[in-house]
Amino acid sequence: MNLSAPRGTQDILPQDIHNWRRLEDALRKVFGRFGYEEIRIPVFEDVRLFNRAVGEVTDIVEKEMYTFASGGEDGDTFALRPELTAGVVRALVEHNLLNNNPFMKLWYAGPAFRKERPQKGRYRQFHQFGVEAIGSMDPYVDAETVLTLTTILKEVGVTQYEIHMNSIGCPNCRPAYREALKQAAAATLKERCGNCQRRFDRNILRLLDCKVEHDRELSKQLPGMFEMLCADCKAHFEKVQSALAGVPFTLDKLLVRGLDYYTKTVYEVTSPLLGSQDALGAGGRYDNLVAELGGPKASGVGFAAGFERVLIAMSHGEAPKPPAMDFFVIYVEDKNKGDAFRILNQFRQAGLSGAMDFESRRMKAQFREAVRANARFAVILGEDEVKKGVVKLKNLTTTEEKEVALDEAVRRLASS
Ligand code: HAM
Repeated sequence: MNLSAPRGTQDILPQDIHNWRRLEDALRKVFGRFGYEEIRIPVFEDVRLFNRAVGEVTDIVEKEMYTFASGGEDGDTFALRPELTAGVVRALVEHNLLNNNPFMKLWYAGPAFRKERPQKGRYRQFHQFGVEAIGSMDPYVDAETVLTLTTILKEVGVTQYEIHMNSIGCPNCRPAYREALKQAAAATLKERCGNCQRRFDRNILRLLDCKVEHDRELSKQLPGMFEMLCADCKAHFEKVQSALAGVPFTLDKLLVRGLDYYTKTVYEVTSPLLGSQDALGAGGRYDNLVAELGGPKASGVGFAAGFERVLIAMSHGEAPKPPAMDFFVIYVEDKNKGDAFRILNQFRQAGLSGAMDFESRRMKAQFREAVRANARFAVILGEDEVKKGVVKLKNLTTTEEKEVALDEAVRRLASS
């Protein structure tokens, strides 16, 4: 029996954890700096939430969700969350969070699931971090979410990325754009892929999203939404752009996003370090989603980024060293092992990090282990030291060695 991890899932092994933690620490720090509060929501939800929020005619809902029966008598169907925005808005409405604070800034991190064809940077279980700022129409809030993402990227040393921006209008101006797009695209529709042909009738905007090179070339000739925005959407988009003064971004009329809840601003941050799945993160504004899910009329804007993709981009920079442990206890003879174990735990109780070799190996092998564990000091214990109630403290970088009393050893390890 071949029991390997399911296709499209990944084990995050101890050697990878350091980088995951680095990213987690960075995002916590930046979210705090930008004034977001954390929210945690279930990994699965009623499937109707995603049908409603993400949209019936999207790849995610049509073919990528993992759904299952609740197992209860109610006959409900659940889906593993393919993204977190829908769940966050559901929670906000369910718990009336806007009653206490009409402008909520929330952040989250956790796994999401999509039944996609796995490849580098595209998995079936992946992890997202993101924000949702709900309760403001102000274009500065759109800009602030973009800056939150780029600040996290800066914090973890990812500097090679591009920001793509577009506005996809609102229910007032989008229908006319859809019509204009249909008219313009009809002439060359036969030349396009099957996917485009299907999208032409069902969700014409997604035609612009097609990844087939020939089709992209055709799309470049089509009108862009920002040429047809209503006065409100146009003014909003101009303000978002001026709020981002000094931040380089590209206006991208082909950017439409694969989820239906967006209105006005949409954006994507891509990196050439990633290959074909090049979006590090993406987001935009959703002015109607809160009300559609039963809440008050409140606008939202946010983004989500893929942990795995940001980690790929981070791996192109300088790899940071794993954190050092404070000490490694080395016993001269097997009969000192019990005292070594006692000291190991005594020092740990004092807040220090340490380990020892349990295999009663010779001292040389124990020293090798200490170096492999990246310990800063060796705490050496032989018969003499046990009798005198001292240890030898050896700095493994400078090789300097000194005999000290136990409490003095703790003081030195804690202060160096
Ligand atoms: P999304 O563009 O579907 O947007 O996903 C956001 C990010 O999640 C992508 O840019 C990518 O980095 C990562 N991602 C998506 N699918 C996969 C996958 N199969 N494997 C690895 N990484 C993946 C959303 O999910 C929206 N909820 C973003 C948002 C928040 N909009 C407003 N607020």
